[in-house]
Amino acid sequence: MLLFLDSAVSEEIKTLAETGLIDGVTTNPSLVAKSGAPFKDALKAICAAIEGPVSAEAVASDSAGLIAEGRVLAALAANIVVKLPLTVEGLKACRLLAREGVATNVTLCFSPGQALLAAKAGASYVSPFIGRLDDAGQDGVDLIRQIRAIYDAHNFQTRILAASIRHVGHVRDSALAGADCATLPPGIFRALYQHPLTELGLAAFNKDWAATGQSIL
Ligand code: E4P
Repeated sequence: MLLFLDSAVSEEIKTLAETGLIDGVTTNPSLVAKSGAPFKDALKAICAAIEGPVSAEAVASDSAGLIAEGRVLAALAANIVVKLPLTVEGLKACRLLAREGVATNVTLCFSPGQALLAAKAGASYVSPFIGRLDDAGQDGVDLIRQIRAIYDAHNFQTRILAASIRHVGHVRDSALAGADCATLPPGIFRALYQHPLTELGLAAFNKDWAATGQSIL
């Protein structure tokens, strides 16, 4: 399973990329606004730090505008993935950009039917927003399960990118449900490797080792 960072803060992305465990990055207009950085400059810095796919969202309201923006974004770096909304205009733009060889991520997916259309439009990735579905009283992980079954039954190659991740349980459950990738806020990436029993166990091992007076090197 691929793990992406859901962030537009290039310095933080660079730091976490040093783990070697980050396969890509997703951004959205809200994350760009929160970062305070100029969009294209931030994208170039992120693309230089990460070899894998970096999603950059087009914001126009019609397909012609989305296509024009998509072409500009795709030209910024070889690993840009153009993010498009799951609207009819976004799907039209996805189909055309995909035919031009541009990688696409169809975002704001909340139903299996929408995911089916994204795959038919040739999307490289579809982003089901599981946290926002949970917030609305539905089961976000179940959506991943349903999309996985549809894509497998019909041999669609679109990758399922679990988005709107709220906690480490979402990462585990998305992996179990068959998501190809998950995009994690930096805090949740860190929370994946942190466990109180690991800390306690390590402290005890270190204390006992120190008492031996030995050295490995
Ligand atoms: C990523 O592609 C999405 O835009 C992001 O995960 C949305 O997360 P949120 O629901 O926490 O805003």
